[in-house]
Amino acid sequence: MLQANDMFDPSLYERTLRAPLEAETLASWCYTSQEWYAREVERIFMRSWNLIGRVERVPRPGDFITVEYAGAAIIVVRGRDNAIRAFANSCRHRGARLLDGEGNCKLAIKCRYHSWVYNLDGALAGCDGMEDTRDFDRARHGLTPVRIENWAGFLFVNFSPDAPDLRTWLGDIWDTVAPYKPEDLVCTRRKEYEVACNWKLYVENFNDLGHIKTVHKSSLEPLRQKYTRPCEFEPRNGQGFTAWVEHDGTRTLLDGVDGPRGFDDLPTLSGRARHGSFYATVFPLAAFGFCVDSAWSLEIYPLGPSRMKLVVGSLFHKDALARPDFDEFAARYYARMDVAVPEDNAINEAVQNGLAGAETAPGRIGDQEIAVNWLNRWWLERTLGLDQGGTKNDRAA
Ligand code: FES
Ligand SMILES: [Fe+2]
Repeated sequence: MLQANDMFDPSLYERTLRAPLEAETLASWCYTSQEWYAREVERIFMRSWNLIGRVERVPRPGDFITVEYAGAAIIVVRGRDNAIRAFANSCRHRGARLLDGEGNCKLAIKCRYHSWVYNLDGALAGCDGMEDTRDFDRARHGLTPVRIENWAGFLFVNFSPDAPDLRTWLGDIWDTVAPYKPEDLVCTRRKEYEVACNWKLYVENFNDLGHIKTVHKSSLEPLRQKYTRPCEFEPRNGQGFTAWVEHDGTRTLLDGVDGPRGFDDLPTLSGRARHGSFYATVFPLAAFGFCVDSAWSLEIYPLGPSRMKLVVGSLFHKDALARPDFDEFAARYYARMDVAVPEDNAINEAVQNGLAGAETAPGRIGDQEIAVNWLNRWWLERTLGLDQGGTKNDRAA
């Protein structure tokens, strides 16, 4: 493997930065190297909008979740004013982790170490033992805020004060998804997996059209054969892209065309959205599927160069939840995910093993993998600093 100082030389990646059908894949060390991963944490995850789930995770004042994103530990809590805020999960006294897991912290967050107390808006409300400390300003020792924004019920966090707002980040992806009214959807199940692969492999695979007929031969391939037209990837003016595929029925039930019916179509759909599925990838790694009757989301939490946590969210229209047969119907949608997601997990782990086991030369991109190249370029530009005007000579670690 290359030494860390050498692997960030942009001249090594000239072929990866080409247009898709002229491009090579990313070098294997981009998926296996600790140094490469550390650079991604600094230049990608700490500067991007990262999906952490839905507002339904904290429905009532005082409800909190704790999240670890690429090593950064945060608290997300709903305040008494109903606003959802995020803070570093570390006491401002001497740094103790404040909360674990998820739950309701009633009116305040109390540190387990010396009992400093914070209001749900992060303000320091109690700090016994500081009476004689000189120049101690309680107002300057509230919890450290982390930027959090809500896109139609999806929560994203950003660790950089300099990043654009989420609306700008999403650009017209936001508008394109509007017919599905995500704010009227409810996430009824979050299923977690730990997957032994690099986070990039998972996002590439999500946007790889060529693997359905092999990896999902018995599960999704029969649905793919109902496509009326090929899947079309569409660049967007935000940080991400979308894909559209026209077909009859739903793609979120294994037997969605000929078998038992699922939920009614979403009431707000119009135009082409009534006859197909729409997928969105938001850089660096969030993915969404919107179908005629339901939606799903993929949250990816990088845990290192060769490990990640995946959370698959299943979403349905709020009116569907009132049906007496909701659980029975929803189980069919969950079953589809429970078959297809482990198929993807296994192939991504096999690719990770292949890349880690031999230092192979880069491969090439086929016409079913155009979006893999779009992803590779976006990630590379940031990791190498090319988006900041970096050049070949700008190789500082
Ligand atoms: S570290 Fe939290 S009160 Fe001391
Ligand atoms: Fe797949």
